[in-house]
Amino acid sequence: MFNRPRRNRKNASIRSLIRENSLGVDDLIAPLFIIDGKNKSEEVSSMPGIKRYSMDLLLKEVKELHDLGIKCVSLFPALDDSLKDKHASESKNPDGLLQRTIKEIKNKFPEMLIMTDVAMDPYSSDGHDGLVDENGNILNDETLDILVEMSLNQAQAGSDIIGPSDMMDGRVMAIRSALEEEGFNNTLIMSYTAKYASAFYGPFRDALDSAPKSGDKKTYQMDFHNSTEALREIHADEAEGADILMVKPGISYLDVIRDMKSSTSLPVAAYNVSGEYAMVKAADEKGWIDGDAVAYEMLVSFKRAGADMILSYFSKEMAMKINKLN
Ligand code: PBG
Repeated sequence: MFNRPRRNRKNASIRSLIRENSLGVDDLIAPLFIIDGKNKSEEVSSMPGIKRYSMDLLLKEVKELHDLGIKCVSLFPALDDSLKDKHASESKNPDGLLQRTIKEIKNKFPEMLIMTDVAMDPYSSDGHDGLVDENGNILNDETLDILVEMSLNQAQAGSDIIGPSDMMDGRVMAIRSALEEEGFNNTLIMSYTAKYASAFYGPFRDALDSAPKSGDKKTYQMDFHNSTEALREIHADEAEGADILMVKPGISYLDVIRDMKSSTSLPVAAYNVSGEYAMVKAADEKGWIDGDAVAYEMLVSFKRAGADMILSYFSKEMAMKINKLN
């Protein structure tokens, strides 16, 4: 035999020398859930290990992430139902929970990048990402005005990266134009470019109590039977001024990540979503898998598929693991 692939695997040293991909702490973005109040933390029951924090405790969490070497957090406010309405008005409140939190984090950790989600659902009494008319239709162009205001408001509060997760047509263009006009030419847009209508978002909707009150999100989020359709979204977001493109969910969509990476010169992000986290934690709790090892393998698979960065609820524990390995 001339060809013995096992020669290149014969010990840890040669394996590390030929290794094609690696996971670093600086690949990771940590999503965080915020609640109002003081000294409050609440477990998200479908996401063991993940909590909603009041701002004081959230700052401690951000400090720990910062000390671990994590460079970016993505913030999601969990609002009381009394603050939700049809037009997501609370998203425009300059003193809202999210806005206050952005300012506090920027104040204490100026170099920590803050990413904020742009979509109506956490603020909407309908639980949809867009404006709902009396027949249950999600109105595209009317929603854009709200998304633009939301984005400007987040940029004003100090958000570094605006993350439109709503899947309305033309949102990146609308947001980019407004940011340029208002002097926020250094604010990035990480677009949820290929965001699928997915059952993997269940635990996240528990965390924010943001599930749609009626209907589903299939008229705006993509049909998971499709992959070529993602190319159309990629071309649109590139032309409209996005800085980073994202695929979501992640683990069942590695083919889409690969396609995206080979069809754009922009950086590609993957969102390892709540349901993917929950499945690993549940099986780990039952003793059926080694959750830590499976999580690491999952995150490396995103890198192998071509992702430049990963949003994951595993970010903190993986950063601890990676720091220990190094
Ligand atoms: C809001 C939004 C969702 C997620 C991120 N931003 C939920 C949804 O679209 O229903 C999901 C994140 C996750 O499941 O971890 N538009």
